[in-house]
Order: sequence, then C-alpha cells, then structure tokens
Amino acid sequence: MEFTARASILSLIFAVHGNAQSLPNSFPLVDPSGFIETYNVNDASLDLTGAFFQSLGTNGRSCSSCHRPAEGWSVSAAEVRLRFFFTQGTDPIFRTNDGSNCDHNIDTSTLQGRMAAYSLLLSRGLIRIALPVPANAQFTVINVANPYGCGDMETLSMYRRPLPATNLKFLSTVMWDGRESSPQTGTQKITYATNPADLMADLAHQAIDATAGHAQGANPPTAAQIQSIVNFETSLRTAQAIDFRAGLLNNDGALGGPMTLASQPFYIGINDSFPPSFGFNPFPAPFNAVIFTLYDAWLNSPIEPRASIARGEKLFNSKPITITNVAGINDVLGVPSLSGTCGTCHDTPGVGNHSVSAPLNIGVGDVNSPLDISYLPVFTVRNNSTGEVVQTTDPGRALITGLWADIGKVKGPVLRGLAARAPYFHNGSAQTLDDVIQFYNQRFSIGFTAQEKADIIAFLKTL
Ligand code: HEC
Ligand code: HEC
Repeated sequence: MEFTARASILSLIFAVHGNAQSLPNSFPLVDPSGFIETYNVNDASLDLTGAFFQSLGTNGRSCSSCHRPAEGWSVSAAEVRLRFFFTQGTDPIFRTNDGSNCDHNIDTSTLQGRMAAYSLLLSRGLIRIALPVPANAQFTVINVANPYGCGDMETLSMYRRPLPATNLKFLSTVMWDGRESSPQTGTQKITYATNPADLMADLAHQAIDATAGHAQGANPPTAAQIQSIVNFETSLRTAQAIDFRAGLLNNDGALGGPMTLASQPFYIGINDSFPPSFGFNPFPAPFNAVIFTLYDAWLNSPIEPRASIARGEKLFNSKPITITNVAGINDVLGVPSLSGTCGTCHDTPGVGNHSVSAPLNIGVGDVNSPLDISYLPVFTVRNNSTGEVVQTTDPGRALITGLWADIGKVKGPVLRGLAARAPYFHNGSAQTLDDVIQFYNQRFSIGFTAQEKADIIAFLKTL
C-alpha cells in the first residue's frame, strides 16, 4: 500500500510536470483504475530528451504534447483539462492550428475565449484533422454543418483522438483512416511480405507529417531526428500493470502487464478472421476467437475482482455478436448477418487490433449512433453515379481512397493500455469503457446482463 501511495504521488508529479530527464523502465504511472507501465524492449530507461520530446516546429509542440506515457501514449481528456487549468490554456497543446475547434474567427486572448475555442479538446481530447476531398472521389460533399465554423466543403475538418504512439509493432495500418499506409499518400501498405520495413517507412513519413502539421514545422525534421523518433516509439510496449481492485496483473498465474505483451508473437495476418479464401493469413491456420488468455488462471480466484476480470476476458472471447450492416464485413463477405464475437474484428492475439488492414464502419460516426455525437459536424455526401445521399460525422477512409464504399470506415485500434486514455473511439464519443460497452450492446443488440457488463469492463480496464 505504501508503495502504491508513493508511486502514485511520483507519477502524478511526473504526469503534471513532465520535465524529468528519463523514466525508469516499466515505471508504474497512475491512471484512473490502477497503474500503467511502459516496457522499453532495449531494456533501458526511457530517454525523455530525444527528438520525440523536442519542439521540432514553430509552435512549441513536441510529439509528447499529444502522446504521453501516463496516458497510454495518447492523451486523456481529464489530463488535458488539468493541463489547461495549470497553464491557463497556454500549454503548447492549446494551439489554434488544430487544437481548437476551428482555426479562424476565434478569440484566444482571454481565458473564457480559450475555454470556448478548445472545448472539444477539453471535453473529448479531440484534435482537428483537416483533409481534402480527393479529386477523383466517387462522391460529392453537398453540405457541411459544422457548429464551430470550419465548414469548408473542399477541405473537411474532422475531430479525432490521438492514437497511442506505443505498441506500434502490432500495427497493420497507420492512422485511423490508414492514410500513412496508403499508396494515395505516397506511403506503403503494410503486408506480411514487406513487414516491418513498410511500418518503419510509414512511421518515418508520419513523423515528418506530424512535424509539419501539428508542430507547424518550417523545416522537416532531420534524418537523425526521424530515426530517433521511430526508434523510440517502436521500442515501447505499454499495458496496464496494476489494478486498484485486483492488484498486480501478473500475480498468481495471470499474464497482464507489458512484459508478456513484449513477447507476444505477431505477423501481418496472424489469426485473421476473414475466410481463408481471402488469403490474408499467409499460413493455413484457422481463426481462433480466443484472443486474450491473460487471466485464465484467475477464473476460480477467491478474490472476486480477479474472477470478474477472468469472466470478462471469457466474454470478450466468446459472447456471440450478430454482426450486421458493418461496411467492410457484411458487404465484403456478401452476408447480411454474420455470427461473430469481439475477436471477429479485434483478432490479433494478446493485442486486439485487426491483424490485417481492415477498415470498418461499425457506426461510431453515423448520425444514428447510440452515443451522443451532437458535438460533431455533419457531412452530407452524394454518390456521383447513383445519386444516393448519406450523412456522416467523419467520412474516414473514403477521404483517402475516394471510394464511396469506404465512407465512415476506420481501423480497429490496439486495445492495450485503455484505462489510461479515455475517451474512446475515433471521435471520443465513448467517455468511458461503460459507454463503449453500451454502444456495442445497443448497436448489435447483444443483450449483456448487468453482471456481464461489469465483468467485461473490469477486463478492458486491465489491458
Ligand atoms: C496536436 C496533437 C498531436 C501531436 C503534437 C502529435 N500527434 Fe500523433 N496523432 C495525433 C492524432 C489526433 C492522431 C490520429 C489522427 C488520425 O488518425 O487521423 C495521431 C496519430 C499518431 C500515430 C498513429 C498511431 C496508429 O495507431 O496508427 C503515430 C505513430 C503518431 N501519432 C506519432 C506522432 C509523432 C511521432 C509525433 C511527433 C512528430 C506526433 N504524433 C505528434 C495527435 C498528435
Ligand atoms: C464488427 C467489428 C467489431 C466488433 C464485433 C467489435 N469491435 Fe470494437 N472496434 C471496432 C472498430 C472498427 C473500432 C474503431 C471504431 C471507431 O473508433 O470508430 C473499435 C473500437 C473499440 C474500442 C475503442 C478503442 C479505442 O482506442 O478507442 C474498444 C474498447 C473496443 N472496440 C472493444 C470491443 C469489445 C469489448 C467488443 C465486443 C463486445 C468489440 N469491440 C467488438 C470493431 C469491432
């Protein structure tokens, strides 16, 4: 207990000031449900002075303005609010190029003005991502209803959560819409045959884009800086390590925490859930719905929080979900309804992202989402050949490929280190993991009981 109290004070100080020179390897940092740890695969402390932590542009931001160790290498909206109050809204994350709801007709000269200008960053941890509609798009944007003024129809403003800059080894595509792994942007699709060189090249490209965009760099980073960033971020493995209720997550036979994650085998297509005829898995091994086996040893634990986590893991691996109207699955397979589980889409063993690039629209950005999305812009889009009209809060992958079929599609992210980085989904529409489960329960009529919800939420918090 004394250790926990001391570590929590230390990590709070660390989280707030963030000016230490290095972070001991696997140092426990406090988050809302316990402690998260990052393991450096080079077995060394984490150097907090490298290019990832330096201001490489003109607005004072570094990668660590939006990718922070105590927040699963993303940012949590709660910490962003703390940062706002500590700095009166002057920390470099609060910049008008993409931190504010819109970049023009705003007043950031007063505290009140800044609170209004950065309201989506403060309430949901959202960054404005502006992307042009591709010239060859199969659709036309016929209306943009943006409550914050950024209603341009050629360059669309979306609002997205920073993805974790950790556990990158397991990525099958970079960015929510895969735009850093796409020939359309001069980057490389990640494949079994070319991995990990493709990933490394994409991450280098991403670091250049992030410096030019988020940090408003006048010059691109040097080759040495890019190398430093990519080496650093790809050395990190992050997972929850201690749960306030269940204790050490690698205790008594359990396999939680970043060390087990670091030894998790991975290749593109590992355990892919599409039928073998798609050829996504280079080996003829059948799909196994058992994605996580971290807490098998706790199923009969007399410690109830441990048993609950183990039951939650089992639900993740086995609770039947009838998958309907998911673009990227039902249309691709030609089946109106598919009986699956969480792992149908989160198929990478021990990690939970999709093991091949599989952009999907599960409805998180649809105007009829079961969660509140009233704070987002609505784009009305018309199909150039059929005349069909749809509305969405984020066209997703369609803004990269120009394909009508890709509207609203995003990747399923890595599911480790969740507890430290609320809110969830690309648009932050799930403030908590309870909201995530509520979304799935309503969207797919799963019928979770109250106990099942509690168990699966307890499990997700330990990842
Ligand atoms: C102002 C906030 C901000 C800053 C600064 C920032 N990022 Fe990000 N980062 C984001 C957001 C938002 C996304 C997701 C955007 C999307 O997918 O459209 C993201 C995505 C990423 C991803 C993709 C991870 C994945 O799962 O695909 C990586 C890697 C990353 N950032 C690394 C960096 C690096 C390296 C830097 C510094 C050079 C940096 N970021 C600076 C906000 C930021
Ligand atoms: C039909 C495919 C599919 C199924 C089934 C599915 N997911 Fe997802 N999941 C996704 C996609 C795609 C995303 C990203 C959606 C977005 O942000 O718009 C996602 C996002 C998430 C996130 C948010 C992660 C983050 O970093 O914000 C969590 C947590 C999650 N899923 C858990 C689950 C659980 C638990 C189940 C089973 C009850 C489940 N998913 C079933 C496809 C699926």
